[in-house]
This record gives sequence, structure tokens and C-alpha cells, in this order.
Amino acid sequence: MSLNYVCPICAAKLSFTDKTLKCRSNHSFDFAKEGYVNLLPVQNKKSKDPGDNIEMVQARRNFLTQGHYSFLQDAVADKVKRLSQGKTIIDFGCGEGFYTQALQKSAVNCKVYGIDISKHAVKYAAKRYPECHFSVASIAQAPFNDLQADVIVSIFAPLFETELARLCNDKLIVASPGPMHLFELKQKIYQEVNLHTPVTCPTGFESYSEEVLTKTVILDIPTTKNLVMMTPFAWKFRPEHWHALEQKENIEITLEFYLSIFKKTT
Ligand SMILES: C[S@@+](CC[C@H](N)C(=O)[O-])C[C@H]1O[C@@H](n2cnc3c(N)ncnc32)[C@H](O)[C@@H]1O
Ligand SMILES: [Zn+2]
Repeated sequence: MSLNYVCPICAAKLSFTDKTLKCRSNHSFDFAKEGYVNLLPVQNKKSKDPGDNIEMVQARRNFLTQGHYSFLQDAVADKVKRLSQGKTIIDFGCGEGFYTQALQKSAVNCKVYGIDISKHAVKYAAKRYPECHFSVASIAQAPFNDLQADVIVSIFAPLFETELARLCNDKLIVASPGPMHLFELKQKIYQEVNLHTPVTCPTGFESYSEEVLTKTVILDIPTTKNLVMMTPFAWKFRPEHWHALEQKENIEITLEFYLSIFKKTT
């Protein structure tokens, strides 16, 4: 198997032998039975269970499987298809692999990696999508060589500018919440709703294109609960907010995303 990871401890090339990746200093990383490799050494962990917890991962899997975000998935996969020909694509903060898998399908002949610091998310991803290469790793210190990624995809994941500039050889595709994204839900918890603005161009990149994708959906309450649970404002939902939701049969919600593409300049 030809996988181009570098050692997260000493940055030397990792070679594949017998279900294990090893560097010349004998740091070794085993593949789990689901097919992913854990490249997050304990000394690089800032908490015991970093990244999205199991409840968030399950909620995201349940929600995404219903297809309400497929228009974003299709748009990102289409961009990647047009921007990369037989190259390396890395999905940064890939979660449970919904987008990673679509990138692999769309960009045939490309090598597609998905990395996430949440072991729960990567386990789900690798189990369902064995055609992609998944690893538990930090996107703040990703286990790849300089300029290894022709395209980096970041969908609602944190942006670490220095690392993006180090790794990216050509294009960075970022999906982030659009101005009206989940407005109807936010109205329930905030007195005044702040509208999202696009992400700013990271250092070392220039703006290449930007569009806004919008769709309105009517969701039943169990689906709405999954949607809330997979977002950061799940923490803001108090018992009275959940109770108010449960009084309804369904709810109309705006889904809106910025799709920003940046080109490497230096
Ligand atoms: C909002 S979720 C988005 C997941 C996926 N891109 C999607 O849209 O379905 C953000 C993801 O970033 C991951 N994450 C957060 N900090 C990270 C880090 N330092 N390194 C790698 N992944 C990280 C979380 O574990 C989580 O899966
Ligand atoms: Zn090493």
C-alpha cells in the first residue's frame, strides 16, 4: 500500500509493513481493524478524548445520512473534480467521512485522505468508507510532508493558517456557515442573531472564488435534534429550548453555506 504519511513524532517518512506504519527511528503506528491509523501520539493530545465526542459524531452521521446537506457535498465534490487531476486531496477535520467519500468518488485517480482528531469520527468514517485513507491526527500538526496536498478541503473545521500554508501546494476549499445558516434555530436561543461572514483569506493564499449556497428545508423534530447536536450551539440549548422544539411537528430551517476557494501564493 502506498501511503504518504510522515511520522508525527520525528517527521521522517512512514513505511508500510504488516498492518503497521514505521519510521526509521522505529516509531510505529498500527492500523485498527476498521482500516484507519492513529497518528496522534499521546504527548500531542491536549485532552483524553479530543475532538467531537461520540454523541456529536452519531448525531452528525444520522443527520447527514438523510441527505439534507447533499447539495453542499455535491458542490464541494464538483469543485474538487475540476481543480485536481490525479493528485493528493486531504479533507481536514473530516468527521465521519460524508464529504471525504464524495471527494474520492468524484476525483477518480486522486489519493484522498481524511484526518480528524476525533477517534470516534474516524472510526465511523473508516468503517463505512474503506476506499478512503483515514487517520486520527491533528490538523494543527498534520502527518504529511510540506506541499503534499494539491487540494485541502476544510468543511466547518478549524483553520490553522501556518499548517495550511505548509501543506498546500495549490488550492484550499473552505465551507463555512453562510449569513442565514440555521437562522430559525438561532432565533430560539439568541436575543440578537449575528449573521455569519465569510472566512478571511489565510496568510500565504489569495482569494480564488467565493459563492453562497442556500436551501430551505422542513425538518421533523428528531432530525432537528440531530442537527442541533452536531453544531457548537448544542451547548447553548437549555431544557426549555428542547421543550419548545418538542411542541412542534416540524420546523422550516435555512441551510446556507459559503464555499470559498483560495489559491496558494507563496
Ligand atoms: C464541525 S465538525 C465537521 C466535520 C466534517 N467536516 C463535516 O462537516 O461533517 C469539525 C471537526 O473537526 C475536528 N477537529 C477539531 N479540532 C481538530 C484538530 N485540531 N485536528 C483535527 N481535527 C479537528 C472535530 O473532531 C470535528 O470532527
Ligand atoms: Zn518517527
